[in-house]
Order: sequence, then C-alpha cells, then structure tokens
Amino acid sequence: MKSQSAILESIPDHARHLFFKLKPAADLRPALRALAAACDGQSAVLGIGVEVAAALNVELTGLRAFPDLPDARPAIPVTQHALWLWLRGDEPGDLLLQGHALEALAAPAFSLVQAIDSFRHQDSRDLTGYEDGTENPKDDAAIEAAIAQGQGVGIDGSSFAAVQQWLHDFASFDAMPRSEQDNCYGRRRDDNEEIDGAPESAHVKRTAQEDFEPEAFVVRRSMPWVAGADAGLVFLAFGKSFDAYEAQLRRMTGHDDGISDALFSFTRPLTGGYYWCPPLGVAGIDLQALGL
Ligand code: HEM
Repeated sequence: MKSQSAILESIPDHARHLFFKLKPAADLRPALRALAAACDGQSAVLGIGVEVAAALNVELTGLRAFPDLPDARPAIPVTQHALWLWLRGDEPGDLLLQGHALEALAAPAFSLVQAIDSFRHQDSRDLTGYEDGTENPKDDAAIEAAIAQGQGVGIDGSSFAAVQQWLHDFASFDAMPRSEQDNCYGRRRDDNEEIDGAPESAHVKRTAQEDFEPEAFVVRRSMPWVAGADAGLVFLAFGKSFDAYEAQLRRMTGHDDGISDALFSFTRPLTGGYYWCPPLGVAGIDLQALGL
C-alpha cells in the first residue's frame, strides 16, 4: 500500500495549508470522494480530522483530536479542525488557485477556516537561521517512522500528521547573544554541530528521538511562514501514529522533568491539530477505512 508521496519527499519551495470545518447537517461523503479523487498526495496532501470519522460513524484506530495538556508549561493551544490540505508547489499564486479549486470541491460539506502560506528558507532553515530537519530519519527509516504498516488494508500506507503554527518573537531572539541562541537549540548555527554539554532545556535535548521509551522518531516537514509583520514556522510532523510527536511535545512542555524547552523563550504555538493522511490507491486517495 502506497503513502501520499509528499510525506516522504523533501520540502518544496512553497506550500499552503488549508484548514476546514464541517458544515452543519451536510452529507460529507460526496465532498470527501471528490477531494480524494482530486488530491494526488504529491501536490496536494489530504488529512482527515477525528470529527470527520465521527460524522461517518467510523472509529479509526489511532485517530484522535490534538491533546489538551493541562500541565503543559507554557500552555499549548488546541485548534483541531475537520480537514487539512497541504498544497505543495513552486509558486504561491499557483497554490492559491489550486486551493480555490479544492475549496470548491469541498464546499458542499466543508468551509475554509484558516489558510497559511509557507515557504522554504535557504537550505531548509528556520527564520532564526538554524537548519531544520537534520535528524529526520531517511529512506527505510523514514517509512518505518512515518507510515503505518501491518495494520490492515485501508490503514497501511497512511500517516498521522501533527500541524502547529508557531509565531516567533524576533526581538527576544535577536536580544540574545549567539551562544545563548545556540544553547536554545543545542546546535551551533554556523556549522549545525550539536553542542557538547548543552543545557537540558536545549531543543534537541528535549526532543532527542532515541532518548524516548519507546524511541520517538517522526519525519518533520516544517516550513517558515510570513504574514504582514508576523512570521514563524509551520511545524509539521508525520508519524505512524501521533504517539512519538505527543511524547516530544510533552517533554518540551516540562511533563517529564519540569524543564520546558528553551525555544519557548522566543516562539510559541498559535494552533495545533492532528490529521490522518489516508493511503494512496489506484484512483487517488483511498478512503476505504472511512467506509467510502
Ligand atoms: C518553532 C518551533 C520549532 C523550531 C524552530 C524547531 C527547530 C528545530 C531545529 C533547528 C532542530 C535541529 C536540527 C534538526 O534535527 O532538525 C530541531 C530538531 C528537532 N525538533 Fe524541532 N523545532 C520546533 C518545534 C518542534 C516541535 C513542536 C517538535 C515536536 C513536538 C519538534 C521536534 C524536533 C525533533 C524530533 C528534532 C530532532 C531531535 C533529534 O533527534 O536530534 N520541534 N528542531
């Protein structure tokens, strides 16, 4: 069973994230079928929120809403939507127009609630200048981390995406000396090397994937965003379940040892949602696990 191929590809030059809510009392089956046929998993990735499965009376193993973490320091917002589309391409104008076409297909059952344009910065860097994605698993390890396998037809080949829009406070970041900025990440900006003896709050120490039990590997496809004077990162992680991401987020917010991630000194999430990305079939995206 094949996955939506964009999940295993490096990030494009441009992307657009669209989030939709369910219209009351709409029959969502025809709209979902139309979207599944129109999304190729490469230029358009389709993600389904738990509300859609519930509306279809389907309980899909592993699909749940973005967690409410009451002890998280700082607090983590939950903005779970019904549907997410990740459009990928070379040029923002094309993505806008492609989005319009998909919005029209979704319109009988879904209305757009948020759109975020994002882009690749230099060689996949966050806007603070640090290379993002270095420790992503590659090849077979990426498939093992990001794609569900051995769970049955309709689920195999699927992936579980966590999407969060983060807003950077550049004034706070710029006020730090470079050594402190490097310590926030636990890597040096200049050569991307890990810092020996980085503080426990360093981001790569909080999220070190092999340090979890079980190991918590994900495939990250985050990209920066700018809207007017605001900017930050659209964090995007694919897993064979939501568990690895959730374990990392808990450790970042002090759940395991009371230490919060140093990233929070200059950035914070504005949104957070979980979406199940169905496998790819012969005629577009395969929704059989939803009974379609
Ligand atoms: C604005 C928010 C964030 C920024 C700017 C950011 C940036 C970075 C950077 C620069 C690295 C080091 C290079 C690399 O391996 O990619 C990194 C590593 C990593 N980040 Fe983030 N990140 C953010 C949020 C998150 C969140 C929310 C999670 C998960 C809950 C996360 C999970 C990871 C993981 C798993 C690694 C690799 C750790 C390892 O195994 O070495 N990041 N991040």
